Order: sequence, then C-alpha cells, then structure tokens
Amino acid sequence: MSNKKISIIGAGNLGISLAKGIVQKDLLPASNVILTRRHLESIEWMRKDGYTITDQNVDAVSKSDVVILCVQPQQLNMLMEEIKDSISRDQTVVSVITGVSLEELGKYFENDVTIIRAMPNTAIAIGESMTCLASENGSAGKMAFVESVFNSLGETMVIDERLMQAATVLGASGIAFFMRYLRAATQGGIQMGFHPEEAQKIAVQTARGAASLVILDKSHPEVEIDKVTTPQGCTIEGLNEMEHQGFSSALIKGLMTSFHKIKLINQ
Ligand SMILES: NC(=O)c1ccc[n+]([C@@H]2O[C@H](COP(=O)([O-])OP(=O)(O)OC[C@H]3O[C@@H](n4cnc5c(N)ncnc54)[C@H](OP(=O)(O)O)[C@@H]3O)[C@@H](O)[C@H]2O)c1
Repeated sequence: MSNKKISIIGAGNLGISLAKGIVQKDLLPASNVILTRRHLESIEWMRKDGYTITDQNVDAVSKSDVVILCVQPQQLNMLMEEIKDSISRDQTVVSVITGVSLEELGKYFENDVTIIRAMPNTAIAIGESMTCLASENGSAGKMAFVESVFNSLGETMVIDERLMQAATVLGASGIAFFMRYLRAATQGGIQMGFHPEEAQKIAVQTARGAASLVILDKSHPEVEIDKVTTPQGCTIEGLNEMEHQGFSSALIKGLMTSFHKIKLINQ
C-alpha cells in the first residue's frame, strides 16, 4: 500500500465512487484520502469510515500528492482560481472533467505541473470502469501511480489525448449504448414468453458471458459467433436478419453521430 495522499476535489457521484474504490481495493487507507465539496452534509457519513471531509480546497490540495478534480465543467474555473497557486510541480493533477483539454488545464499553472486527463465511466461505482488516461508531461512514475488508482476501479488504457473524445463516446457513452441493447434483448425475451425479470436476467448474464469469452479467453467476437451459428440454424438466420436491418451499421453510425456531436460541443 502506498503512503501517498490523494484529495478528491468535488466529491459528488464520481468522486465518492473513486474514494470508495481506492480504499476498498486497499490502494490507500481512508485516512490518506481527503474529500472536498462546498455542501458537506451529504458526505458527512464518510467521516466515520476514516476519510477526511472538508470544504477547504486549498488546505486539502496542499496536503496531497495527487489532486483529482471531479467538479462539473462549468464549476472548474472558479475552483481553479481558488486552488491553482497552492499546487506545486511535485504534485500531480488528475482531471476527470469531460471536455476540458490538457492545454486548457495547463493555462491555470505558471509552472510545469503534471496534468493527467482521465475518462472513466459510471461502472467505476462497482469497480468495473474502463478508464482512458492521457498526459503530455506526466513522468512514468506519476503516470504509473495514477494508473494504479484507476486499475483499482476497473481497467485502464493510456491513450493519446487526440483520442479522448473517441474514448468518451466508446467508453463513457458506451454504457448507455450497451444498456439499450440489454433493454431491447429483454423486450424480445418478454415477447417470446419470459417475465421481464427473467428475460432481463438471461439477457444480462448472456452479455456478461459474451464479454468474458473475449476478455478471459482472449477470443475474437467473430470466432465466438462461428461457434454458435449452426449451418441453416436459428442463430445465423436471426443474425443475418439483424444485419439486413442494419444492426452493425446502426451501431457504428450511432457512435459516429455521438463523436461528431462531442467534437461540436468541444469546439
Ligand atoms: N459520471 C460519469 O460517468 C462521468 C464519467 C467521466 C467523467 N465525468 C466527469 O466527472 C465530473 C464529475 O461528475 P459527477 O457526476 O461526479 O458530478 P457531481 O455529482 O455533480 O459532482 C461534482 C461535485 O463537485 C462539487 N463542487 C462543485 N464546486 C466545487 C468547489 N468549488 N469545491 C469543491 N467541490 C465543488 C459539488 O458539490 P457542492 O455543490 O456541494 O460543492 C458536487 O458534489 C464531471 O466533470 C463529469 O463530466 C463523469
């Protein structure tokens, strides 16, 4: 276990999930994690678990090796005006804030502070996030520690920052896309005769099994499809009908539409 101190500035949904994951996975004890927000009532309960809870951002930042910025994009500027002068070159700043580039973050600092962008998804709440990380000035040691933080909450991948918007669509928005698949599969199951909760259980566990075959067996989706599609059988008939209706094409077009939209928003 490391001796580092982490402050999570803006302990809302994501910040609380991050804090819980770090402690539950034994990366750091709760006493090494400082949580800040302006209204403390809703996180008071975390104090008894050993976290430091405060509304004093400057004090929290000055006591930390790693500062994780978890506020909403529109709250960033006011926060940075408050804390920027308290952050030194020895520290690492991690931003999970959607759509704020390393260049924009860098403008707040006169010295060469290490800044790392992180794009997790909502499965971080259960330690199953896919988190993409990008930095232009992070040393190997600093990046490795931040990777270990997010590895305690799922899987991580270090990417070029130019791919951050694509990572947002594929990984963060991706949760919504897979949820829609699960809902549609459940509705198909209901139409075939299952009760909703039965249909959902079958759809969800089947999706987990499919993902696990690729993850654990390092298999390829098409190899697994070939194993299920008996010649002239029901699976190939259904699969081909889905493709005639544009299944793969609809998915790719949806991803690209989200991608174009995020580029427009961040222009
Ligand atoms: N949710 C996701 O899946 C996801 C994925 C990737 C990235 N993100 C990004 O993560 C960030 C946080 O998302 P979230 O869902 O956790 O938002 P959230 O629940 O609204 O949390 C933001 C927190 O920041 C606090 N805050 C605002 N200004 C502050 C300040 N000056 N000092 C201290 N605390 C302050 C707010 O509490 P008070 O009002 O009490 O201060 C609030 O609890 C966003 O920028 C989002 O784009 C989210």
